[in-house]
Amino acid sequence: MTSAPTKAEVKQANRQLYDTAAEKYEDIDGRRSPELRAWLSRTLTDLRAQAPGPVLLDVGAGSGLICREARNIFEQRVALDISPRILAAHRDNFELGAAADVDALPIASGAADALVCFAVLHHLYDFQGLVREAARVLKPGGIFYSDHDMDSRFHARFAWPLAAYRRLRDAGSKYVGALPGLTRRVYELSEWQEDGVDADSLAKMLTEAGFTVRLTRHWYGLLPVTDALFGFRSFAPGLAPLARLWAVRN
Ligand SMILES: C[S@@+](CC[C@H](N)C(=O)[O-])C[C@H]1O[C@@H](n2cnc3c(N)ncnc32)[C@H](O)[C@@H]1O
Repeated sequence: MTSAPTKAEVKQANRQLYDTAAEKYEDIDGRRSPELRAWLSRTLTDLRAQAPGPVLLDVGAGSGLICREARNIFEQRVALDISPRILAAHRDNFELGAAADVDALPIASGAADALVCFAVLHHLYDFQGLVREAARVLKPGGIFYSDHDMDSRFHARFAWPLAAYRRLRDAGSKYVGALPGLTRRVYELSEWQEDGVDADSLAKMLTEAGFTVRLTRHWYGLLPVTDALFGFRSFAPGLAPLARLWAVRN
């Protein structure tokens, strides 16, 4: 009998996958349409207008999508990621970068004005460390913003069509095929919460840690056809795949 994967194994799988993918990540990932980038730019402009100051932490920064879009919006952009190689390969996108785990950010308490996790939550084993660190590093009025992870309520409702869609899309083969030495097992471990993140629980944890939280669900940024059909409207739980959390530190 094999034992259940540990938190350390999930972290190690993420580090290995993104170290291996570092130089090729943007080509493999593909989420870089002009529309997505324009929407991100508008979102980051809102974030800067509401945050108390100019220090942005991009946690799970990868190749620096958020830092790059925030270039003329936040004066100081800090990229943090468990993979040192992906940061090194994209260091032009941020002022400061450090290999770091969400459970222990190398940032002084109260030093940050905004903390963004974009497409990161589903890679995490759990959210305890993330919530604790967000509450510690953000100053009062600072904002935690996370987006583009699948909500578990959508996954629960549409499990069958989603399974068919994923079989067709087969992102795992794309990664394993493009990255010599990467195994399917490592890819699957890195996608730890592939059945969706429990956004309601995360919202509750953030509230208990002293945040005022807004949780919404939307479709924006997945496919041109869903962008055209649904735009950036909010949907009832279970009717849109993407969970968006906007939480202000009290
Ligand atoms: C899907 S990528 C998203 C990258 C970027 N935010 C974007 O949207 O292009 C997920 C990122 O989370 C990072 N990551 C996974 N687990 C982490 C952890 N425990 N601490 C810090 N970063 C982590 C991975 O290394 C990877 O770069």
